[in-house]
Amino acid sequence: SASGGADRYEITQREASAEILPGVTTPLWTYGGTFPGPTIESRRGRPVTVTHRNELPVPTVVHLHGGRTPAASDGYPTDLVLPGGRQQHSTHMGHGSEHGMRDPRAVVTELTRDYTFPLDQRPTLLWYHDHRMDFTAPAIWRGLAGLHLVRDDAEDALGLPAGPRELPLMIADRAFAADGSLAYPALDPTLRVRPGVREPYLAGVLGDVILVNGAPWPVHEVDAARYRLRILNASNARHYELEAVTGDGRRLDLVQIGADQGLLAAPVTHRLLPIAPAERYDVVIDFSGVPTGSLVRVLNRLGSGRTGDVMAFRVARAAADDSRIPARLSTDLPEWRRSDAVRVRDFSFRAGQMHAGHGWLIGGLPFDPARADVTTRLGDVEVWRLVADVHHPVHLHLAGFRVLSRSGRAPLAHDAGLKDTVSLRPGEAVEIITRFDGYRGRYLFHCHNAEHEDMGMMANLEII
Ligand code: C2O
Ligand code: CU
Ligand code: CU
Repeated sequence: SASGGADRYEITQREASAEILPGVTTPLWTYGGTFPGPTIESRRGRPVTVTHRNELPVPTVVHLHGGRTPAASDGYPTDLVLPGGRQQHSTHMGHGSEHGMRDPRAVVTELTRDYTFPLDQRPTLLWYHDHRMDFTAPAIWRGLAGLHLVRDDAEDALGLPAGPRELPLMIADRAFAADGSLAYPALDPTLRVRPGVREPYLAGVLGDVILVNGAPWPVHEVDAARYRLRILNASNARHYELEAVTGDGRRLDLVQIGADQGLLAAPVTHRLLPIAPAERYDVVIDFSGVPTGSLVRVLNRLGSGRTGDVMAFRVARAAADDSRIPARLSTDLPEWRRSDAVRVRDFSFRAGQMHAGHGWLIGGLPFDPARADVTTRLGDVEVWRLVADVHHPVHLHLAGFRVLSRSGRAPLAHDAGLKDTVSLRPGEAVEIITRFDGYRGRYLFHCHNAEHEDMGMMANLEII
């Protein structure tokens, strides 16, 4: 029923296990028992309340990435849901220091929190994930991630591929130990760093198994028709360059129709699509010219060996197709101009020295929840100049932005549309423009290489 109130969901965060690799069991931290967590589908402007109950052995905090969310529900990294419910002493992957330990015989408490999302925003693919200070990367790695789709009538009316021909694809790499458990180098005490030794995970943690929606290198059966792929790179640190190749070596067009924050104005065709951690690309691929019975492989040009492979589509049968890709997709993209900006800010994203060794810094500083790094006024338009040493996917909470330039040149083809995460390439200076719109309060911006984020590369954004 469409009348009043909010859609309500309940998600229990708990330990569970799954057979991800054949013959072995992988213990996970989950939203609701599965990895990825349950996919939530919402209508634009219809509020959603998600009650999260934490039965994990650690504090957690939920962030809806890409959501236009009031600060109280945005998942600030110290805004914790304490562990409640059944207290279990975790044995696998557990190292005491990581666990803000509770007495396993403690009184059973049920600690829950309601997150409310107005979803008054352009329809797009959002994702929810853990955001606990200093421990986001291992929490996501263990499974705390899920998808949240927002739709509206205008988008439904476009005639894009839909129903079984719309496929959300959460791509994430993982490493596994021989017993099936997830291997996370940063939690392996044998990899602790000695003074002066470069952290082995400084660049971020990479896995050699590519999962799509939690399954390794899946093969998905499709009709010889158009499909809409809602792609999310949920990897902690891995960048991909995706291409779709037929059995006879032909590259299929990847027709981009949307970015992180919804539909583009017009489609953009790619043969090779770079995707950084936390970015989303909404892409239409047409299997109609592919011989039935053959495979279209999705490859990762930045990988090698197993990581060069992502998934495949088996074109099973000929089929009718009345979908289309309209030449005009949306008319509501913000077109801020440089002259609209009331200020320009500069931020460097670089490695540097922190109290306990190496870290990742914004403007020379590691994250400090007590410091206001940026204070801006609701409604102000600003240009931000972001400079990188190595690859950093930079993400803003609350505000979608446009990419203005890359090292003084025009943005790249895949920078089109409204974004919330932009991939800074090594040595690059990227200008973005945004309007701080929506809500007042304390938000964040950070590198979405999850290990970089945990090692300090995050800052406060205070909207007054
Ligand atoms: Cu997807 Cu602040 O994060
Ligand atoms: Cu976010
Ligand atoms: Cu980074």
